[in-house]
Amino acid sequence: MNVGSTKEKNPEKRISITPDTSKSLKDLGLNIFLEKGYGESLGFSDKEYKDKGVEILNDPKDILSRSNLVCKVNLPNEEEFKNIKENSNLIVSNYNYEKDKNFHQSFYLKSKINIFALNFLPRITRAQSMDVLSSQANLAGYRAVIESIYEFEKAVPMMMTAAGTIPAAKVLVVGAGVAGLQAIATAKRLGAIVSATDVRMSAKEQVESLGGKFLTVEGSENLETKGGYAKEAGEDFKRKQEQMLENAALKSDIIICTALIPGKPAPRIISEKMIDNMKSGSVIFDLAVTQGGNAAYSETDKIVVKKGVKIIGIGNVMNKLPLTASNLYAKNIFSFVRNLYSKEKKQFIINMEDEIIKNTLIKENN
Ligand code: NAI
Repeated sequence: MNVGSTKEKNPEKRISITPDTSKSLKDLGLNIFLEKGYGESLGFSDKEYKDKGVEILNDPKDILSRSNLVCKVNLPNEEEFKNIKENSNLIVSNYNYEKDKNFHQSFYLKSKINIFALNFLPRITRAQSMDVLSSQANLAGYRAVIESIYEFEKAVPMMMTAAGTIPAAKVLVVGAGVAGLQAIATAKRLGAIVSATDVRMSAKEQVESLGGKFLTVEGSENLETKGGYAKEAGEDFKRKQEQMLENAALKSDIIICTALIPGKPAPRIISEKMIDNMKSGSVIFDLAVTQGGNAAYSETDKIVVKKGVKIIGIGNVMNKLPLTASNLYAKNIFSFVRNLYSKEKKQFIINMEDEIIKNTLIKENN
């Protein structure tokens, strides 16, 4: 069976197969085809891939038409899609049913290609090594802090010098999930005083274990589903949270927004009023910008400045550390392929009894 991958379209900088995972895929008994110069921008030469047994092809069409499984970061465009052969398999990291609906109905249904979208992986133990949302969000949380500090025009750690004492910067993290916890850990390591809030009370212990202070919305119920995700907050909660955050925002130098409710637009948490009252020179990083944003004024791939407060929205933070992101993404892909491929039968097996396959396979009726 053949596995192939072609270069992503600009501006995506990540790749799906690294020299390391090429070896692992070869060890499963798979042939690999990659496009000439596939990993060049990340420092992986064609020779490095060839040494792992990869076949490098000049024409991406040849790769798509010869592969039984195509691995990509983003959904291929129409042109590429037409070259993928019938009854083959395609893995992508992100599929949005609303946005991609027309595309998927007109192309995939006719071509009978099995599309697996890793953003629909169930969050079960067995799927952890494939969990692209976690591997990438963890890096996003880290990078959000780094980008914010870069834009922040003061020092972050407390410094006692002969010329005077510099106070530590105060960082507030809104949403203490995967990205939020990494943001807390990163900001702590850099010497900031960190506080965080979340609607799930189980987050309190995790925030505190990283050295952060948990800000509880007084008198509120725990908004956590049985699956461990956040529930949408009611009006009463939102009002209390707003009051609490108005005060917290006022004291913060940097706010990292990571609040998310699966399947819903991002909750609007940092209001215009909060931003207007923040100190000039403060920074807000809105990781949820592409889902509508947690913060007022945030715009994708822009730094908006309001009364001296910088509001940063980067659509694809992974492009800021594509090498690390690709290394993890490629390992996620490999783990998924290992589960999909039967070494004994030398086939990709669509076992709908398997929760991992069932949840990630894009189906006609979705
Ligand atoms: P997650 O689901 O692990 O964490 C989200 C957290 O927000 C949860 O702990 C949830 O309880 C909390 N939350 C929900 N509503 C809240 C509210 N009203 N107040 C306070 N907390 C609330 O999600 P993850 O993986 O950490 O992703 C966070 C965000 O970062 C998402 O919007 C995701 O799409 C985005 N992201 C953006 C990237 C980019 O390149 N721009 C890359 C990776 C993630």
